[in-house]
Amino acid sequence: MTDYEPFVPESTSESIAVYPGTFDPITNGHLDIIHRGLSLFDRIIIAVASNPAKQPLFSLEERLKMIRDCFSGEETRIEVEDVTGLLVDFAYKRGAKAIIRGLRAVSDFDYEFQLALMNRRIEREVETVFLMTGFRWIFISSSIIKDAARYGGDVSGLVPDHVCEKLRNRYLQP
Ligand code: COA
Repeated sequence: MTDYEPFVPESTSESIAVYPGTFDPITNGHLDIIHRGLSLFDRIIIAVASNPAKQPLFSLEERLKMIRDCFSGEETRIEVEDVTGLLVDFAYKRGAKAIIRGLRAVSDFDYEFQLALMNRRIEREVETVFLMTGFRWIFISSSIIKDAARYGGDVSGLVPDHVCEKLRNRYLQP
């Protein structure tokens, strides 16, 4: 016998997670995290944020479409939505148990830890789950991909083909 009382979830209904980000643009690293998340949760809501600290290259509509184009046929398990306001409020209202964040390197940890603790302080019912990015993607970020594409660098294999095309067209324009 032990004093420890195991936590028993209230219901066995489907498990939902929110995967937030700016996704300017979505990369194969993000897709890797989403596919890992799908093995843990029934449904993932990809929440596209307009981070005021960032000046996105692609409009919100373009980012939403680029993400939706990655998941045609998987609409029963993936939803793509824009999020304004507090992320944890959004997650709670959508019935999500967790916020998924990807970790690429130790340098990601400080910020992610702070964000997770602040989110938990605001809304205790929503946990943050960290997933490790596949080794192939640890060096990429949306910024480094845009930087390479801006100067004509080949980013194929790092982003989905339709995103690669979008980047090429964007930087070809005068
Ligand atoms: N593969 C490749 N790149 C990855 C990655 C992965 N697995 N995981 C993260 N990144 C990159 C992103 O591409 C991004 O690169 P960039 O800076 O070059 O654009 C960077 O890591 C981190 O960005 P991202 O994960 O998109 O987060 P963000 O900092 O842009 O946005 C939010 C963070 C959206 C979660 C945060 O701003 C938020 O919660 N906003 C809502 C308001 C709110 O609730 N704030 C918190 C109050 S406590």
